[in-house]
Amino acid sequence: MAILFDSRTKTFFLDGKGVTYAFMINKFGYAEHLYYGKTIGHDDLSHTRTRGAGSRDATIPGNDEGGLNVYHYFPTELSFFGTGDYREPAVEVLNGSGDRLTELLYDSHEIVDEKPKINGMPSMRDGETLILHLKDRVTSFACDLYYTVYDDASVIARRAVYINASDETKKLNRAYSFSFSLPDQHYDVISLYGAWGKERTTERIPMHHGVVSIDSKRCASSAVLNPFMALADRDATEEHGDVYGFNLIYSSSYALKTEGINDGRTLVTGGINDFDFCWVLGAGERFETPEVLIAYSSEGIGGMSRALHDALRNHLINPRYAKKPRPIVINNWEGTYFNFTVDKLKSIAKAVEGTGIDTFVLDDGWFGKRDSDRSGLGDWFVNTDKLEGGLTEIIRYVNSLGMKFGLWFEPEMISEDSDIFRAHPEYAVGVPNRPRCYSRHQYMMDITRKEVRDYIVEVMNKVLHENNIEYVKWDYNRNITEFFSFAREPERQAEYAHRYALGLYELFDRIVEANPEIFFEGCSGGGARFDPAILYYFPQIWTSDNSDAEDRTVIQYGTSLAYPLSAMSCHVSEVPNHQTGRMSPLKTRADIAHLGATGYELDTSGFTDAMRAETKKQVEEYREMEELILNGDLYRTADPNSSNFFAFTVVSKDKSSAVLTAYRRLGSTNNEVRYLKVRGLDENKAYYIPELNRTLKGSTVMNLGLVANFGRGDYMTVKYTFKAVDNG
Ligand code: DGJ
Repeated sequence: MAILFDSRTKTFFLDGKGVTYAFMINKFGYAEHLYYGKTIGHDDLSHTRTRGAGSRDATIPGNDEGGLNVYHYFPTELSFFGTGDYREPAVEVLNGSGDRLTELLYDSHEIVDEKPKINGMPSMRDGETLILHLKDRVTSFACDLYYTVYDDASVIARRAVYINASDETKKLNRAYSFSFSLPDQHYDVISLYGAWGKERTTERIPMHHGVVSIDSKRCASSAVLNPFMALADRDATEEHGDVYGFNLIYSSSYALKTEGINDGRTLVTGGINDFDFCWVLGAGERFETPEVLIAYSSEGIGGMSRALHDALRNHLINPRYAKKPRPIVINNWEGTYFNFTVDKLKSIAKAVEGTGIDTFVLDDGWFGKRDSDRSGLGDWFVNTDKLEGGLTEIIRYVNSLGMKFGLWFEPEMISEDSDIFRAHPEYAVGVPNRPRCYSRHQYMMDITRKEVRDYIVEVMNKVLHENNIEYVKWDYNRNITEFFSFAREPERQAEYAHRYALGLYELFDRIVEANPEIFFEGCSGGGARFDPAILYYFPQIWTSDNSDAEDRTVIQYGTSLAYPLSAMSCHVSEVPNHQTGRMSPLKTRADIAHLGATGYELDTSGFTDAMRAETKKQVEEYREMEELILNGDLYRTADPNSSNFFAFTVVSKDKSSAVLTAYRRLGSTNNEVRYLKVRGLDENKAYYIPELNRTLKGSTVMNLGLVANFGRGDYMTVKYTFKAVDNG
């Protein structure tokens, strides 16, 4: 049993893979956090309860005798506002009288084998779950805390449900998913910041007294700050030290905060962003918050990443595709942009016939009046003037080459110059009598409205059902402005950002889940909505519009902190690179793109026989290592943020095979020697390394390493494969 309640000490022990999470119900009825970290015994942990520094602290009503037991700073499992807990509250409720007080005390608990789903939102599958029922001392406001642990991933999944059990209407001014205490403050905060073309760049800063906060106010998880944060022991490295990772399963405006408390401890909290948020909670209603994954590793940042990768692959990403070989696409976007004919598309597809590329994806520009990004969005019917013979002809042709056909959509958007906007201007998000902001010359559909969702579902499903479409790329190219719905009353307008998420997940349910045989890929003007909630529906997401191999080493390195390689869609594109103008060898572009769900995106119609043969060889190599990309353990072996090198080693779970891809940014007349110590292998096994044509002991390549020979030039890669041999 993974979850145990010791009634003697009133302590809950939740044991996941290599981890224990423990808290107790103290004598006042508070759920008091005790521990999360490496597996420990089910002992009486009360010897660790102590009081740190305080300042004019309040006492618990009716318990004014002083000392630890009246101290309001003990780390409750959920921080709340108004009764002396001055840490960042996880919840603030506006009661009917106008007071904003909550005091959540233990009521009862359940331990269930079947993890309850969140209503209308994606969440982790499986896992034994504890439901802790907390209740306000006075107001009939209640909260259920959910905790789930897994025997195959070192994470705990947490969320809160807020319940108005009173007969008055209440308002939630803040409704975070969790709060979590750490016994120390010796941590650095690691986050993933970015922008278009530089998504999920790693940043590490020391935490301090007060709050370090990351958030999104964009109604999307965004390229600017991913909904991921790690707290790493200040001495922690890639391979050593305690690291906690927090990953929110949510796609709309969020907040994640780390607070250094004056008592020497740390609080982490977060969930739906409470900026521009107020939820009206009617009598008897429940409010479900998104789930957060909290990973722990004593094996450094790398161990924390592997814990998150296991959790996402084993229990979140659509199991139909999570661990299965992926389509290898040729996408026409960078090859043609909007400027294509049927003949051009056919020649792009024909050129890769027999290379192993198995899916042709027709990107933006096939529908409505869409010859640029200024028109057509929302008119999801084929433009037969541009695409002669319609989808039928191009699909027939692609299928005749033995390839599958994929199609691009941007369902959440609407162009002013479109038939649907002319017929229904109110479908676009906007505020009465106020001009709308453009972004990429387009508006957003108000998917918080049912009739808008119904329209999108109807027109999209029609295209999907009438044609042999086996792959869909779901794009999302702007962030919202004018957060407002024409269909909602004034006091509910600050529910907008969360209602957008709920509308989005309903669309996914009705389109993605309703077409299980279609492979869906997420996209957002590059990788601007790359979060676990999207991965629940789409097994992979376009990582960035920046397909330059050099920039991709930094982007893929950062992304891998929280997300498995199989989640990152990575394409080989042409040179000079369209985003950076940089030249890099085709082998390098392929080697870097092969560290994810790979594909190709260039005008192949001019391919020579040699280029076709090279592509075929690359695809074969990729298929050989794909099992590792899908299911292997990642060991980041060199960091491009702080060195001239980038290297990833991916090792099979049984340590019988591995691949190491290393990259050197700039060459020199006098290159430095670069030892690559391979991580994650079995020291006692012997491995055949075909690139060196020799067999070496795991201990040799792990401790002495290999010396990479990159040759002459900039942006060069080397790759080594490792196969365990019997005589190890
Ligand atoms: C942004 C995406 O990231 C690109 O791959 C491409 O699909 C364009 N949108 C099309 O408009």
